Amino acid sequence: RCQCYCSQSRKNGAPNFGLFFDIDGVIVRGKHILPGAREAFKLLTDKNGKFWVPSVFLTNAGNTLRQYKAKKLSEWLGIQVDPEQVVMSHSPLQMFRQFMDKHVLVSGQGPTLQIAKCLGFTKVSTIDDLRDAFPKLDMVDHERRQAALCAFEKYFPKIDVVLLLGEPVRWETNLQIIIDVLVTNGRPSEAPSVIPFPHIPVLACNMDLLWMAEAPMPRFGHGCFLNCLESLYYKITGYPLKYTTLIGKPSELTYHHSENILQDEAHKLGLPGVKRIYAIGDNPETDIYGANLFNRYLCKKHANALSQKKRVNRQGQEVSEDDDNEKPENINSDLC
Ligand code: G3P
Ligand code: MG
Repeated sequence: RCQCYCSQSRKNGAPNFGLFFDIDGVIVRGKHILPGAREAFKLLTDKNGKFWVPSVFLTNAGNTLRQYKAKKLSEWLGIQVDPEQVVMSHSPLQMFRQFMDKHVLVSGQGPTLQIAKCLGFTKVSTIDDLRDAFPKLDMVDHERRQAALCAFEKYFPKIDVVLLLGEPVRWETNLQIIIDVLVTNGRPSEAPSVIPFPHIPVLACNMDLLWMAEAPMPRFGHGCFLNCLESLYYKITGYPLKYTTLIGKPSELTYHHSENILQDEAHKLGLPGVKRIYAIGDNPETDIYGANLFNRYLCKKHANALSQKKRVNRQGQEVSEDDDNEKPENINSDLC
């Protein structure tokens, strides 16, 4: 269907549609590119490897910077992918300006500190920083049961926000330390007399329970880690864990952010914008559900815009202005 649209639009000159591409399970499995991916992208790019159809790569991965992902995609596909075309699960966090000057504890995998700083957070500590400053907290590994070299914890500034980027490597350490921070209002050196609730803000990305890597079966994703965290927090405190935001697919916020980027890509190509979005993904609970949610939002927005435009004709009847050119926005998202 896409191939058909592509060749039709190419003949007509200017495509009025755009594409959202999932990465894991659609373009690659782990580090291996899937058959047909390179050929598919040839249809969307010119002989210099530059896109002529507005395209955005929308992944729930959160373990790297989008510059790095763009570089990998360019290598895998043999085309030119710009960092601006990549939306990682954490990318929309740059909109949360109210937290940028707060002291943030970041959990995840890969260059977590660098990712948080690139998003705009200015005061960032990692789980490893806390593990070093508070060696008594992480005691699952009996080998680590040692006295602290000095009382670093006295000088450790209060944590204001917990930022969950993706599944970490040593789950028990992260689960323990995040819960310590939540039940102490950000000061894990002090045993709480009462459990504070609501707890300090928690910003989380990527709710994928499972995702496709090299293994024949899907692997645990960050959603599994969040599930453990929510369940332990509830068992220990009796309170539900509340996210200030939970972004990545299928959240609407992520789709709004991605649509803005897609429209920018269209403008960069000299196009007036996209009227239809095709979202291509492999996970029914995130890619398909998210695209359907966004589609529902767009349909409602379109319906509201039309009803506001209703006017009364000479006979006193209500009529709607059904002129396509006058519609403020006429975007639909479809699934391939
Ligand atoms: O951690 C990556 C994974 O959860 C899914 O990535 O590209 O399929 O959205 P993707
Ligand atoms: Mg996928």
